[in-house]
Amino acid sequence: MFQEESPEGQKMIEFRRSLPAYKEKDVLLKAVSENQVIVVSGETGCGKTTQLPQYILESEIEAARGAACSIICTQPRRISAMAVSERVAAERGEKLGESVGYKVRLEGMRGRDTRLLFCTTGILLRRLLLDRNLKGVTHVIVDEIHERGMNEDFLLIVLRDLLPRRPELRLILMSATLNAELFSSYFGGAPTIHIPGFTYPVRAHFLENILEITGYRLTPYNQIDDYGQEKTWKMQKQAQAFKKRKSQIASSVEDALEVADFKGCSSRTRESLSCWNPDSIGFNLIEHVLCHIVKKERPGAVLVFMTGWDDINSLKDQLQAHPILGDPCRVLLLACHGSMASSEQRLIFDKPEDGVRKIVLATNMAETSITINDVVFVVDCGKAKETSYDALNNTPCLLPSWISKAAARQRKGRAGRVQPGECYHLYPRCVYDAFADYQLPELLRTPLQSLSLQIKSLQLGSISEFLSRALQPPEPLSVQNAVEYLKLIGALDEHENLTVLGRHLSVLPVEPKLGKMLILGTIFNCLDPIMTVVAGLSVRDPFLIPFDKKDLAESAKAQFAGRDCSDHLALVRAYNGWKDAERQQSGHEYCWKNFLSAQTLKAIDSLRKQFFYLLKDTGLVDKQIENCNSRSIDEHLMRAVICAGLFPGLCSVVNKEKSITLKTMEDGQVLLYSNSVNAGVPKIPYPWLVFNEKVKVNSVFLRDSTGVSDSVLLLFGGNIERGGLDGHLKMLGGYLEFFMKPTLGDMYLSLKRELEELIQNK
Ligand code: CDP
Ligand code: MG
Repeated sequence: MFQEESPEGQKMIEFRRSLPAYKEKDVLLKAVSENQVIVVSGETGCGKTTQLPQYILESEIEAARGAACSIICTQPRRISAMAVSERVAAERGEKLGESVGYKVRLEGMRGRDTRLLFCTTGILLRRLLLDRNLKGVTHVIVDEIHERGMNEDFLLIVLRDLLPRRPELRLILMSATLNAELFSSYFGGAPTIHIPGFTYPVRAHFLENILEITGYRLTPYNQIDDYGQEKTWKMQKQAQAFKKRKSQIASSVEDALEVADFKGCSSRTRESLSCWNPDSIGFNLIEHVLCHIVKKERPGAVLVFMTGWDDINSLKDQLQAHPILGDPCRVLLLACHGSMASSEQRLIFDKPEDGVRKIVLATNMAETSITINDVVFVVDCGKAKETSYDALNNTPCLLPSWISKAAARQRKGRAGRVQPGECYHLYPRCVYDAFADYQLPELLRTPLQSLSLQIKSLQLGSISEFLSRALQPPEPLSVQNAVEYLKLIGALDEHENLTVLGRHLSVLPVEPKLGKMLILGTIFNCLDPIMTVVAGLSVRDPFLIPFDKKDLAESAKAQFAGRDCSDHLALVRAYNGWKDAERQQSGHEYCWKNFLSAQTLKAIDSLRKQFFYLLKDTGLVDKQIENCNSRSIDEHLMRAVICAGLFPGLCSVVNKEKSITLKTMEDGQVLLYSNSVNAGVPKIPYPWLVFNEKVKVNSVFLRDSTGVSDSVLLLFGGNIERGGLDGHLKMLGGYLEFFMKPTLGDMYLSLKRELEELIQNK
C-alpha cells in the first residue's frame, strides 16, 4: 500500500476522490450489500471499472472479510483486462499480482493474495466449466454490458440461473450508456444506479463543416486515390459490395444523401460534397484533417477511429511518409488494436514529450473500454468492421459498416476528458441522422458454433432452449445451423450430446474446426506444421500485399506454395523459413525479401507455444515432451488433416480450357481472393478445394484454400463415427450428388468393402 504521506500516494488519493464515482461510493456500497443484483451506469471515464471493484474490496477489508472475499470483474477484451488491472494495482501502490491481478487467455498475473481479479469474459466462462457454482467467488462484476458482446449476453443467462443457487453471491452489471432498464428488467427489476458524470463539451464537426474549415476539396480523382490507398482489390470489392448491400442502414444513408441539399454551405463545399464517396474511408481526407489539427489547433492528443487492423496499418504507412505527420519530432504516431503486443499497448497511455503531438489510430476498442486521458481531438470515420451472419446461406460476412448513433456519440465523448474538445466526423450530418440508434447485439449477428459447444460442455441442456432465454434470443435458424454443423464435424452426436471430440474441442480456445485440426495433428504426428496452420488462421495472414508491389508479393508467396495448391502449406513453409532465418539473425531481411509481416509471424509463434502448452495440459500431448515432433511437412498427411478440419468448407474444381469454375453447395459459383496461391493459375490439379473462410460481398469469395483429392475427401471429410460408415456415406452422398460425381460413390463403396474385408480378416 501507499504511504499516505508520500507525495505520489497523496496525489493518487486526490485523483481517485476527484472521480464522479467517488461521490456515489456509499450509495453503491449500500446497494451492493442490500441487493443480489445491481446495474450501474455512467459516462465513460467516471470511474466504474477502476473504482467500483476497489470500493468493494476496501469495504470488505474494513469489515474484516478481506481474506474471504474474491471479486471477479470481467472485461470484453484482453487489452482492457490487462490495462485496467495494472492501473488499479498502481492506484493501490502495489505490484500487479498482489491484491489485484488479471487473467486473460493463456496469460495472467495473480498471486495467493489476489482478491480482485480482472479477466476476460471468456475466462470466467471457462472457469464456470470447472466450477458451475463459482465456489468461493463473492462478487461478480460484468463490465461493458452495453456492448452486447456474445460472451457477455451468454454469461448473463448463466449467471441468472446461478443466482438462486448462490444466494450470497453479488452480481454487479456495469454499462456506459443509459439503456440500463433493459438489463434491470432481465434481472427481475434489479435496482439501477446512475453515476452522474462530468465531461467537457465537445464540438462536433460534420463533413460539410470540415470542408468549410479546412478548405479541403474532395474530387472524384481523390476517391480513386483513396481506393488505391485502401489498397488491394479485396478492399475495393468490399467497398463496392457495401454500396450494393441492401441493408437498412446503407439504403437509408443513401436516401439521406439524396434528399440532403446542404443549404448554408458554400457552393465550393457543395460541389465537393457531391464527390463524397460513402464507400471509401478516405485516407487523404483523414490525412488532411490530421494535418490541420497538427498545424493549426491547440495542444492535445488525437484519437482516430478506424475500422480494423488492416486499414490502421495502411493509414499508418501513408502518414509516416508525410513530411509533417511522419516527422517524429512533431508527431508520435501510434496504433491501438486488440492484437498488438502489450508493451506496445502501454505506449498509448503515456504522455509524449513537449511539442510532440500524440496521434493514436484505434479500432472501436477505444470507444469505451480504454481511456486515453489527454485526448482533445477525435477523428471518426463513421464505420466499424462488424461481423454479420447470413443465416440463410450460413455465411459469415465481414464488412465495414456504419456505426450506430450511440457509438458516434461515444466516440465524440472521448475528446472531452480533460478540457473542451473537438470531434471531426468524416461524414455529413444527414448520414449521422440515418444511423441506427444502437448496434445489433453480437449474438444476433454471428455464427453460434463455439457458443453452442460451450453450452453443451457447461451442461446447460438443450442449445435452442438455453439460447431462447437470452436477453434477445437469436433466430432459430442460426441455432439450428450451429447444431447441424457440430453434428457434421463430429462434436455432437445424434442426440445433441457432446462426443469425445466435442469435449476436447470445448477446452481449446479456437474455433471448433481449428481445434479439430490440432487434435488430429497430435494423432497423426504432424502437430508442428498443423499448429502453424491453426495459429495462422486464428491470427491473420502474414503475407503482405503492398499495393504498388502486388505482383512481386504474389510471386514471393507463390514460391512458398510450389505446386502444392495450398495457401496453408505456403504459410507453413514461410513460417519455417522465418524461424531458420531468425536463428541466423536475419529474420528481418527474410521478411522484407518475402513480403512477410514479422509482427504477424511473431504472433503466430507465440500462439503456437500456447497451443502446445494447452495440448500438454489436456493430456493430448505427453507432458514429458519438450518440443513438438518433426517440423517436416508430409504433404499428404497435411492435406488429410486440413481437409478433416475444414470440411464442410468444400468447393468443387472444374478446370475448363481458359478458366476454372469453383462451386460450393450453398453458394453455387464462388471466387478466390486474388492473394490465394490458387487464384489466377491456369489449372488446379485437384478435384476439390477445402477452405477456412468464405466471405460474402457481392460474390462469395474464398480466402485461403488447399487442394485435396477424392480419396482424401472420402476418408477425412466429415465424421466417420457418426452413424458408422453408412451414415458417413449418406452424408457425403448429398455432396457427391450435388457435385454430380456419382463415381465417387462407387469408389467409396469399394473402399468401404476393402475396409470391411480388412476388419473381418483381422
Ligand atoms: O470505467 P469507466 O469508463 O467509468 O472509468 P475508468 O476506466 O474506471 O477510469 C476512471 C479514470 O481513471 C479515467 O477517467 C482516467 O482518468 C483514469 N485512468 C487512467 O488514468 N489510466 C488508466 N489506465 C485507466 C483509467
Ligand atoms: Mg470502464
